[in-house]
Amino acid sequence: MKKNTFSLIDNRTGKNYEYPILDATRGPSVLDMRTFFKDSDMFTYDPGFTSTASCTSEITFIDGAKGELRYRGIPIEELALNHSYLETCYLLMTGELPDKDTLRDFDLEIRHRAFLHEGLRHLFAVFPDNAHPMATLSAAVTALSTFFDDHETCQDEAGYQEMARRIISKIPTIAAFAYRHSLGIPFIQPDIDLGFTENFLTMMRAYPGGKMHLCANGHETIKEVEIRALDTIFTLHADHEQNASTTVVRGVASTGAHPYVAISSGISALWGRAHGGANESVIAQLEMIGSVENVETFIQRAKDPNDDFRLMGFGHRVYKNFDPRAKILKNLQDELREELHLDNELMSIARKIEEIALSDDYFISRKLYPNIDFYTGIILTALQIPKTMFTPIFVIGRTVGWITQWIEFKKESSSKIARPRQLYKGN
Ligand code: SDX
Repeated sequence: MKKNTFSLIDNRTGKNYEYPILDATRGPSVLDMRTFFKDSDMFTYDPGFTSTASCTSEITFIDGAKGELRYRGIPIEELALNHSYLETCYLLMTGELPDKDTLRDFDLEIRHRAFLHEGLRHLFAVFPDNAHPMATLSAAVTALSTFFDDHETCQDEAGYQEMARRIISKIPTIAAFAYRHSLGIPFIQPDIDLGFTENFLTMMRAYPGGKMHLCANGHETIKEVEIRALDTIFTLHADHEQNASTTVVRGVASTGAHPYVAISSGISALWGRAHGGANESVIAQLEMIGSVENVETFIQRAKDPNDDFRLMGFGHRVYKNFDPRAKILKNLQDELREELHLDNELMSIARKIEEIALSDDYFISRKLYPNIDFYTGIILTALQIPKTMFTPIFVIGRTVGWITQWIEFKKESSSKIARPRQLYKGN
């Protein structure tokens, strides 16, 4: 029986190096290369970490070839269709779906913790009206840490869970306050009679003092179908293995900094248009394309190596098949088209892009498929949520993933400070 190892030979010297193969419970095995530099005086080289596992994790599993995503082993389709975002948060944080009583208590706790300290409210006033909510969100989460001191003392699981629940419950309030500040209208406090998602939509839309919600499309209350659509979007964004912003969160955790600044760093990393900022760019791109007739021109630009135009919402480092989250959102779009008066012009342009790109060899050969960001924007637009709030919506969904990954890092005894090396090519 061959040993579970991998041999490398340096053909310059004939020297043989042997490294253990660590097997996963699901998905690719890894080569344990931790002693490679000590053994060989060389580094491995992998900018962008295309072939590098940075950690061991039990939280989320992705099979890029199959287009499969599981949170704690449960397929995303099962969670998105049969469970609420709060149930998914509890599952990610504890590894188990909550029973009815546990969910009731968890829901009640999150509702009561949604309020912000009056002092924190003044932070919003320093930002100009046109400040992007992502800037306010990142600053406010760091500022949140100055109103609590348990991150200085707590070093155990119970303390970590306490901070996790606090941050998860307050992020929607911060996001809603940032939005209302940008409109110059008074903030709406959280309402403990409302669930997580309805409460957020109310804080975004309600008139001061009342429960009336008058939106552009004229309906006066928040409809159940809107709550369900946004709750599904939060669930689909909850976690995604070691993506760029989660890698930043783990990097900040590795220096010993507390979770508030780790989450704030994750928010900043997510903002980039190659990552979470893509959802805002997708709608801006569809609006720029303007009509189905113009799609072909932009497809040609996306294929032109000399043009830095990229099709936002297409391609993914891991998914070389349809992003399963995109499939769920595409079905949701079709289901909600009538009820939510989805923008048919934007949808027609998106469908045309999809139709051409999925039959064009440039995209097929590079396995470029629509990702989650390609579909989110049209539904959020129908929910009367402005483009600048799309990535903050991603933040609200992803915060549970970031904080769960932060806790897993802190509990991992072999975790070390993130400190990669380089190929030096200077003088
Ligand atoms: C998210 O990692 C995660 O899990 C992220 C995320 C999560 O939940 O956390 O899933 C959320 O960030 C989704 C991705 C959102 N970003 C976009 O939609 C922006 C557009 N997509 C690209 O920027 C790109 O596809 C990335 C950043 C998503 C992936 O980049 P990779 O894996 O580094 O791929 P690459 O840049 O090396 O591209 C491979 C080839 C290149 O062509 P060649 O050099 O081989 O000729 O594909 C081309 C690229 O030019 N390509 C595209 C393209 N994406 C890749 N060409 C046109 N349009 C695109 N969108």
